[in-house]
Amino acid sequence: MTLLRLEEVHAAYDESQVLTGVSLEIAKGELVTLLGRNGAGKTTTLRTIMGLLPPLSGRISFKGQQISGLVPNRIAKLGVGYVPEERGIFPSLTVSENLMFPSWGRGETGWSLERIYHFFPRLHERAAHKGSQLSGGEQQMLAIARILRAKMDLLLLDEPTEGLAPLLVETIGTILKEIKASGLTVLLVEQNTRFACQIAERHHILYGGRIVHTCSNDEFMRDMDIQHKYLGV
Ligand SMILES: Nc1ncnc2c1ncn2[C@@H]1O[C@H](COP(=O)(O)OP(=O)(O)O)[C@@H](O)[C@H]1O
Ligand SMILES: [Mg+2]
Repeated sequence: MTLLRLEEVHAAYDESQVLTGVSLEIAKGELVTLLGRNGAGKTTTLRTIMGLLPPLSGRISFKGQQISGLVPNRIAKLGVGYVPEERGIFPSLTVSENLMFPSWGRGETGWSLERIYHFFPRLHERAAHKGSQLSGGEQQMLAIARILRAKMDLLLLDEPTEGLAPLLVETIGTILKEIKASGLTVLLVEQNTRFACQIAERHHILYGGRIVHTCSNDEFMRDMDIQHKYLGV
């Protein structure tokens, strides 16, 4: 079943057009990536799906319902969770307060606090610390945990491993695999191609404002030409 579908989505900031016809489909339960060079429009694609940047044209549908044109809060209520690059937690609230605060208007209908703390022992240890006192990896875990609390169906993640030490990158990878196993669908934006290959089953490559290539992880790992041409690795 297709969970998310983008058809010929165009988006721009003022005069500069960034997305020039993005089309992609994600099935329920998949963990797939959106890859592309710096400035390719990956963040813009996530912002457009989330309604933070209204598309100029094209269609975006989620669970068969058209969501392009809706405001972000409405889209979140339908079950789309977004962790931006800057992580989206409340820095002045403690970890436990961050987890109490109903995320994105869906209330605390998802994972229980107990399950969250069992899954993220690190957050349990840091429960009384303020968001601003957490390390980058802990902030990333907290941002993901807030989405799990709110029971989303689709998780949009923008470069969750950026700036993290290798051991934490591995931890985030394990967490994402377990989240997928629990039934959530994940669209992951990554610059770290190696990490992307370790966890994703399929990849979408954004280049020149469009998806120029979609392939399975096996295909992608074999095809160095694609990696070289579009990602410069
Ligand atoms: N708020 C903005 N205003 C104007 N241009 C922007 C803005 N955000 C991003 N851009 C431009 O849009 C293009 C795509 O950016 P972005 O989606 O952030 O790329 P990526 O996430 O793939 O690195 C870049 O050329 C960037 O400079
Ligand atoms: Mg980006």
